[in-house]
Amino acid sequence: IIDELTSKNGHLMIDGVDSVDLVREYGTPLYVFDISKVRNQIREFRSAFEKEHLNYQISYASKAFAVKAIYQVMKQENVHVDVVSGGELYTALAAGFPSDKISFHGNNKSLAELQMAVKNHVGVIMLDNFHEIELLRQVLKESQETIQVMLRLTPGISAHTHKYDQTGQTDSKFGFDVKSGQAKKALKLVLDNPQMKLLGYHAHIGSQIFGTEGFKMLAQKMIEISKEFQNEFNYWPQVINLGGGFGISYNEDDDPITASDFISAISQELKRDCKEIPEIWIEPGRSIVGPAGYTLYKIGSRKDIPGLESYVSVDGGMGDNIRPALYQAKYEAVVANKMNQADVETVHISGKYCESGDILIDHQKLPQTEVGDVLAVLDTGAYGYSMAMNYNRNPRPAVVFVEKGQAKLVVKRETYEDLVKLDGNY
Ligand code: LLP
Repeated sequence: IIDELTSKNGHLMIDGVDSVDLVREYGTPLYVFDISKVRNQIREFRSAFEKEHLNYQISYASKAFAVKAIYQVMKQENVHVDVVSGGELYTALAAGFPSDKISFHGNNKSLAELQMAVKNHVGVIMLDNFHEIELLRQVLKESQETIQVMLRLTPGISAHTHKYDQTGQTDSKFGFDVKSGQAKKALKLVLDNPQMKLLGYHAHIGSQIFGTEGFKMLAQKMIEISKEFQNEFNYWPQVINLGGGFGISYNEDDDPITASDFISAISQELKRDCKEIPEIWIEPGRSIVGPAGYTLYKIGSRKDIPGLESYVSVDGGMGDNIRPALYQAKYEAVVANKMNQADVETVHISGKYCESGDILIDHQKLPQTEVGDVLAVLDTGAYGYSMAMNYNRNPRPAVVFVEKGQAKLVVKRETYEDLVKLDGNY
């Protein structure tokens, strides 16, 4: 990952913009997104599908990073997005994102969220459970609207990834279980309701997946289920949505495969035993925005424990990137203002939060650092800002988009006043 970085006069460059200038202008911690990379990744998925001559749709899983500006990039790229809450839906609509290209996910959508989705005519509601089918039935009855739906199935396939990142196994909280007959029951309910237009089936097996095996099994399984249900209900899906989860490389141990590897593996399975291949939708989140994101920090204090560890602290941490503490996620970093200096030591990068677990990186090789140096943690674009919080009452960082030498502030840094904005007196 580090080898792919570009630098100029010893400074890390992000899509033609000097990262040290960004720090001077916008402060730290700072999230920076290379928007050319975002667009390229979408185009890679596109060309992979086109090479296989499949009908397809790319739906950006916006939970990975959901701010108005990124929905606008997705609109420009003409892809769909999926949202999982009223808040994400609101943000997408506020950004001017077309509602008919929005898929609404979630395992416990409220009545109010479903009303909001129907009122705004979202493209498709992903039905997850029986309670939701009933709620949606009521909403549609009252509003006399119709809406497209898909059934989220639990196919009984589990991805080899972190436990928190698995979603397709039979005991998952998501979706209708196929084995026990729940899925069939749900299908019948939906087919019997003229206000619900069934577009097809959805499944998502997990996140940060590296091999193609899980996706091949999933494609096969979805066709098998479709055939079984066709025999019984005479219904063939127009769309099969295989979810997201395509892994990215955070450090040298990760060995990701390309968009094209994933899509061609899926395509082979589909073409093998399916006469009428449905349109294939995917929902990548991490792989679209993850590698495009950098978090820039200023280096502050340092602690050297003689004969043991050295800690180099930065002015952010678990509040802007919870992933190391929550999933033991591994990242890599560089000193953005010393790109032409050789590494001389290995240190721990610690955050500023009052918690021992607030270590962003264990064992990072770095050149000699001093107070005020800029540390850039790489590949932080997915599930960084979107999972950011105000622990210890630290304001959330600003977000800057860069593209071809231009930088634009797209989310302002939170202020101390923002922190107390909702607080009342007692
Ligand atoms: N579709 C569905 C139904 C999902 O549940 C998810 C992720 C995605 C698509 C997108 O998956 P991706 O392509 O981004 O892997 N916070 C965790 C990841 C949680 C993923 C939840 N669902 C992390 O930081 O690793």
